[in-house]
Amino acid sequence: MKKLLLIVLIFTFSACSKEVEKNSMSDLIETVMDISARQYFEMANKLESEEGRLPRTYENGEFKTSDSRWWTSGFFPGTLWYLYEYTNNDDLLRYAKLYTQRVEREKYTTDNHDVGFMLYCSFGNGLRIIGEESYKEVLLTGAKSLSTRYNEKIQLIRSWDFNKHLWQYPVIIDNMMNLELMFWASKESGDPFFTELSVAHADKTINHHYRDDYSCYHVVSYDTISGEPHIKQTFQGYNDESAWARGQAWGLYGYVVMYRETKQQKYLDHAINIADFIINHPSMPEDMIPYWDFNAPNIPDAKRDASAGAIIASALIELSDYNLGEKSKNYIKVAENQLKALASEAYLARPGENGNFILRHSVGHLPGNSEVDVPLTYADYYFIEALLRWKQRFL
Ligand code: GLY
Repeated sequence: MKKLLLIVLIFTFSACSKEVEKNSMSDLIETVMDISARQYFEMANKLESEEGRLPRTYENGEFKTSDSRWWTSGFFPGTLWYLYEYTNNDDLLRYAKLYTQRVEREKYTTDNHDVGFMLYCSFGNGLRIIGEESYKEVLLTGAKSLSTRYNEKIQLIRSWDFNKHLWQYPVIIDNMMNLELMFWASKESGDPFFTELSVAHADKTINHHYRDDYSCYHVVSYDTISGEPHIKQTFQGYNDESAWARGQAWGLYGYVVMYRETKQQKYLDHAINIADFIINHPSMPEDMIPYWDFNAPNIPDAKRDASAGAIIASALIELSDYNLGEKSKNYIKVAENQLKALASEAYLARPGENGNFILRHSVGHLPGNSEVDVPLTYADYYFIEALLRWKQRFL
């Protein structure tokens, strides 16, 4: 019976994904959401009895999980919230709550910067969608924990605590993504400190992470006495001077959030400059899903990173809101191409396959030979977010 259901699903999927390529965004979103809800229900169901575990990836036929300490722990519950928001399905709501709870202890995390990713995608979406009051305490405690990593003199939130022999005070571009939680914390608590430190962090990051062409370094480490950079390099990219695709995506998304929260023109200008670097890059493929690094040596045979494509699509949809005339139209066109590509058979997994992850072909950490050309929870999260953003604006 299960086998028959799978055959029917795969047949429907093949027919659907061909249709999706031809049809409107409305059909595409309905089809992808339907497939994704079923995939994530299955994934939630199979992990339910494994206390404290969260999905991480599916590699060599093996479903891999993590506990809440891994930086991606908030994305799976976050995607469940988005899918619940779309479907109104009670099972998805129950699972969204269950897996969100599995991340709660991260509110006490003070040994890395990933608290925003972990808590704002999970508890933040839960609070927004169902207004669960108890989630506020988790988010505020998390914001306070994250703020302990801010150094008044250096004016930045410290990202990592490892490699101490090399980096005095490492800040990675990904850290821009944790600021959304801080803005929420200021609004909720009335304490401007969280906003002030976010603005200081974003300003110093513009000055030292970004090159003249608006690409960025992955890691900048600061001298703890002078507060000035002493090392600029990569950790997950091809080389120190390359443009690691997901880093460019995090920066774009981060400065779009900075403009949303502050309405300061300099952040909008910076987001536009990053977007234009990404979109117009000579190495950007026609379907606008970037190679894992814009300077990867083996382009066009380099691996693509669906996660970077999904993050960029989501950020561009919001960026297009800010009345940029022809640029807004172009950002929407690019995001549409990206979403159509991700929804095609090239990236979208067949139901029941891919460990029940939604997208295939992301790259976690290629130089570390970890999670290369695999599904990743954050690719799924930003893909579903982008589809919902599209629906809210245009359908
Ligand atoms: N460190 C987060 C990322 O791999 O993008």
